[in-house]
Formats: sequence, C-alpha cells, structure tokens
Amino acid sequence: MKFTASCAELSGLKADSLILPTGSTLKNSAESIDQLANNAISSVLASGEFSGKSGQVLVLNFPQLAIKRIILLGTEGLSNQRQVKKAVTATCAALNKTKSKTALWVGGDIGENIEAEASTVAQSINTSLYNYKKQDTDETPDLESLTFWTADNSTKAIEAGLNYGAAVGDGMNTARQLGNLPANICTPSYLADQAISLGDKTLKQATITTDILDRADMQKLKMDSLLSVAEGSDEPPKLIVINYRGAESDKKPVVLVGKAVTFDSGGISLKPGCGMDEMKYDMCGGASVLGVMNSLTQLQLPINVVGIIPATENMPNGRATKPGDVVTSMSGQTIEILNTDAEGRLILCDSLTYAAKFNPDTVIDIATLTGAVISALGKVASGVLSNDQQLANDLIESGTQSADPVWQLPLWEEYDELLKSNFADMANIGGPQAGTITAGCFLARYAKDYKWAHLDVAGTAWVSGGNKGATGRPVPLLMEYLRQKSESTSD
Ligand code: BES
Ligand code: MN
Ligand code: ZN
Repeated sequence: MKFTASCAELSGLKADSLILPTGSTLKNSAESIDQLANNAISSVLASGEFSGKSGQVLVLNFPQLAIKRIILLGTEGLSNQRQVKKAVTATCAALNKTKSKTALWVGGDIGENIEAEASTVAQSINTSLYNYKKQDTDETPDLESLTFWTADNSTKAIEAGLNYGAAVGDGMNTARQLGNLPANICTPSYLADQAISLGDKTLKQATITTDILDRADMQKLKMDSLLSVAEGSDEPPKLIVINYRGAESDKKPVVLVGKAVTFDSGGISLKPGCGMDEMKYDMCGGASVLGVMNSLTQLQLPINVVGIIPATENMPNGRATKPGDVVTSMSGQTIEILNTDAEGRLILCDSLTYAAKFNPDTVIDIATLTGAVISALGKVASGVLSNDQQLANDLIESGTQSADPVWQLPLWEEYDELLKSNFADMANIGGPQAGTITAGCFLARYAKDYKWAHLDVAGTAWVSGGNKGATGRPVPLLMEYLRQKSESTSD
C-alpha cells in the first residue's frame, strides 16, 4: 500500500474514490468538490439522505468524472479520537467494498491536527486491508494507493503522519495474524522463529538482535515458576528476547514483557469447554510485542527497546503442575500454585525478574491475564496497574491519543494481602474478588526494582462472535508511548 501527501490543485487530481469528511455545511475545499460533482453533495445534504452527523458514510458514484466516486464521511459531533478512529474505519470498509485502486482523502476536517488525521487514515487503511484467509495467497487487495490531500502546504506533517500510521497499522496486522493463527501452528517454537526472522532485517539507523532461551537455559536461570507452566505440555517452552537499539547504547531501554501462552487449557484446573478455542489468543500480549518490534523496525525510532516474550502452552498431562504444588521463582520467592489456570503471572514473574538484567528505564508487561478485567472494563479499555503514577498517567494519555484506551486500577496493600499462603511466600490466586488487581499485586512483588506498569488486555486483544479475530491492541498505545518517549529523550 502506497501513501502520498499532496497539496496540488484538487481539480487536477484523479482517483477511483475521493473521500470527503464533512459536516452539514460545506467548507472551502468541499464547496469546490461539490461544484465538480454538479452540486451532488449539497443535494444529498438538502434532501437529508446524508446529514453530516458523526460516523455516517455515503457513497456517491460519478462514472463520467475524473473522480469516479465520492465517499462522504459525517464529521459533526466527532469529539474524541476513539470516535474519529471508528468513523475512519467505517469509511475504509466502505472504500474497500467499492474495489477502488486509488483513493484521494480530503484532509483537514477531523482529528486533532493534520498529522494525527493522516496517521489515523494510514493506520485504518492498513488494518482494513488485513484478511486472515488471504495471507498465504497471491491475491492482493484492490486498493493500491492513497493520496492524502490538503489545501495548505503541510506535506511534511502529512508524510510524517502517514508514515507513522502505516507502520502502526502494519505492526497491528503482525499481532493480529499471530493471534489468529491456531495453536497447532502458532506454538512457542513458531513464535521464536517469527522473532528470529524479524531480527534478520538489516536496518539503517538501528540494530535488532534476537536471542531464544530454551528449557535448559531457563533451568540454569532457575526460572522454575515459568517452567512449571510448561511442564504439562509436549511443546518446548521458549523465552524470546528481542533487543532493538535505535538510540545510543548508554540510553536505558524500555522493556516490554508479553505473555505468550500459545494455548491456555487451564492445565489441571481445566477450563470449561465452551469457547475454549479462544484460548489460542492467550499469546496476544507477546504478539503485541512482536507487532511493536515490527513497527519500530519500519520507523527506526531513536529509542532502545527490549522485548521479552515467555512462550509456552498450559496443558494437563501426567507431569503437569497440580493445585497445591509449590515452586521457587527466579527471584527466590516461593509460590503455592492453588490454581493452574492462573498461569500467566507464573510465566511473567520470572520474566520480570529477568528484565532487571537490562537495567531498564521502565518495564511494561502486556498480558491477557484475567477474565475479571472483562467484567470490570468490558471490551473498551485495557486495564493498567502501575507502581509509578507518572508512568500510569503517560500510558493513559498515550491511550487517549491513539484511541487505544486504558483505565487504571489500584495496587493497594489491602488487595496484596489476599495473596497470603500458609505454605509459601504467596499464593498464585487471591480469591474470587478483584481478580485483575490481585493478579497485578502478584506481579508487583517481582517489579520492585524499577518503574513498572502492567496492561491487562484480556478484554481488548481480540473480539468474539461473528467477527471473531485479534484486534492488534495495544500496539497503537505502546507505539504512541514509545514515540513520545523517544521525542522527549532524543534531545
Ligand atoms: N488467559 C486467562 C485469562 C482470560 C480468561 C482471558 C478469559 C480472556 C478470557 C488466564 O490465564 C486465566 O485463566 N485467568 C484466570 C485467573 C483465575 C484462575 C484467578 C481467570 O481469569 O479466570
Ligand atoms: Mn489461565
Ligand atoms: Zn492464560
């Protein structure tokens, strides 16, 4: 998909579809387009067929004109980035249905500024072209190029926005594809291979290296908590470590830790059968880290980022961990495993201990950790819990900007006390209440030495039902956070 910026005379441009965001009254550029189209736009507005209200999409055909089609997008009442992204996504879907090869986006009417608008458009176009069933075919999408046009001379800002948004969209698609792959293909070894092929890319302004730790390496590091989850599976576990260096080597990295349980059966604490197929998505945290690495590689952001992805299955064979078993984590703290289905925190805690070795500026873990976060926040916001309020605020702000929102939950000691065990330093569950928070409190015990935040994406990483599929979240949020961080530390 090719994106270009243009400020040329609008009447001289050709495209299969022109996309015009507009409210109920036509602004300058819209007026000239209306004239080109023999007042068709003012007519549909007058007739009430199109009101200009937020999110409304109407396709008008003009086979005889250089611009064969105008797609109107209602902008009135679009008051936040989430609404803007939703409206743009609906427009991209309508555009793809027309089978247009070339598109012309008339910019300047939505979003916070022209760069943000261009970024949203490029991201939505790229994600709208993803099709799981066409991944391994030669079939390419109809749409080949989009020109983002605006009247004033702001091609630099538009190009920056298009470039950024396209890379974020590509990263989301990486995460979605890995999420959607079935667990018999997307095993820990498969994820490790994907990470290695990412690392094989040669970059101009950054280097990327990948290390895969296998079971023996993890045994040497005493990661017995992580290994206890892998015990019940025939698939060997992998600890994937990706080191992206876009800034000077003395700049401390942001470490991203992504849960990658490639299938979560629950283990001996077996899950009920209904909907269990969706537990192939239990690696979406890890997939989002690979997605971010992909976007970073494209953009070559000047920042250092380490991705750590503990990858394993959670299965119930004869060697599997049993409820009541006690393990010693890499940190030395002991854990009574009361429920083998609370496995995410068991693989994350050793990864968090391992993260300290990179002398991190900040550590963020991303995990489909609890069903409870869906009860609390539904499918709209991811949960964020942090031992540093500034970091939580930064993530909330990045979530708002990128329309990939997060909402904070507390990490108070009253919740932490629920993890008490009579047989170990802690239990791996805190009982039936506040499940997302007690999971966060568990992780916090392993993240004391640095600024840390935990993102619970169990409600946001995929959608169920007729449109079942991975969403690519929270790649937009993480990329926005990293972009702002790279800008604030690069001077
Ligand atoms: N992967 C699940 C969390 C999950 C459940 C995500 C449903 C999306 C939908 C996690 O490993 C898990 O099983 N968590 C348990 C924790 C409980 C045993 C304390 C849960 O949420 O039920
Ligand atoms: Mn589980
Ligand atoms: Zn799980």
